Amino acid sequence: MVARRVGEVEISGIRRMFEAARPDCINLGLGEPDFDPPKEIVAALVAATRHGANHYGPTAGLPQLRRLVAEFYTDRLPATTGENVIITSGGSEALMACALALYDPGDEVLVPDPGFVLYAPHARLVGARPVPYPLNERDGYLPRIEEIEHRITPRTTAIVVNSPSNPTGAVFPRATVDALVALAERHRLTIVSDEVYDRITYETPATSFWGRTDRAIVVNSFSKTFATTGWRLGFVVAPRPLVGPIGKMHYHIMACPSTPAQQAVLVGLTTSLGTTRAMVQEFRGRRDLVMRELARVPGMHCVRPNGAFYVFPGFDWPESASEVAMGLLEAGLITTPGDSFGARGANHLRISFAASRDDLTRGLGILRRYAEQLTARSSPRTRYDP
Ligand SMILES: Cc1ncc(COP(=O)(O)O)c(C=O)c1O
Repeated sequence: MVARRVGEVEISGIRRMFEAARPDCINLGLGEPDFDPPKEIVAALVAATRHGANHYGPTAGLPQLRRLVAEFYTDRLPATTGENVIITSGGSEALMACALALYDPGDEVLVPDPGFVLYAPHARLVGARPVPYPLNERDGYLPRIEEIEHRITPRTTAIVVNSPSNPTGAVFPRATVDALVALAERHRLTIVSDEVYDRITYETPATSFWGRTDRAIVVNSFSKTFATTGWRLGFVVAPRPLVGPIGKMHYHIMACPSTPAQQAVLVGLTTSLGTTRAMVQEFRGRRDLVMRELARVPGMHCVRPNGAFYVFPGFDWPESASEVAMGLLEAGLITTPGDSFGARGANHLRISFAASRDDLTRGLGILRRYAEQLTARSSPRTRYDP
């Protein structure tokens, strides 16, 4: 009764952790800002629903929102217009519409490992083969071009990139973006660039792939920018020849994006980006707090994230990531096991700092005590000289 493809994908490990958690656990597993949306956009949403914006709209989104989104990309490519933009139901739907429009059965699609949980399943669902390329802690989780290049075959058609990254927090420097663009041009690959955290960076701004090559498609979202993950609104910026095909798939998934949410986000893009900057400022302070606390955790090491709101520390204990995450859960702390993001996430945890400073301090205290016990248990002294 059920199609075979259902068996080819799993519900993400992140969800499983939440289901196993007690209500009093400290939650450092969150993949969304712990802030309310800016109040003017909430007011705009309410006003939109009161004033009749409750019906279907154009498939590709409201023209005024498409135009406004395009304006944010004209510094990178002056010719960008609303015709390059499709408003979607979040980055998630945008990624699925891209997979449907761009990957054929049998194609190979390069995906980051560790990487966001939808890239590989989306490729599989359309009959393509995800080919993970490694991101290593020792490289600050930046991709190595030669590691990608030797995975390219005549069947490789696309590469998914994600900067700032979930789960690592890495932000590609300009040189990495340039090298990836050159690689894509050399091998005639399409770049699907997931830039949903582009406004959440701490040291240097994110470099978009838009305008660097006509092979790049940008996926973005209002979810993180305005703390509106529940509104389900995102967008694609694509070269004109690809807007039709991606838009057609988007139509068959969603018909059109939410009309009132679009009205609200229109207000947000003109009035609320200051609130986003204040949120990022707070995330920066928490990132520093987390780095200080993690430095006191024995057996863990960590690259400082420059974007998004995650750290991805590695550990040297023999336990698996799921065992460590389950042990922490029993001790009252929710984290995400690193292997939820791919095989190379083994021996890592994802810790989200979309949580209050108090929760972060208490949660990392639980982690430190847990790590001290693990380290004591596996230290030669405890083993041979009880
Ligand atoms: C890297 C990345 N891409 C895309 C998404 C999808 O976000 P949304 O569908 O809420 O826009 C997320 C959400 O966590 C993400 O972390």
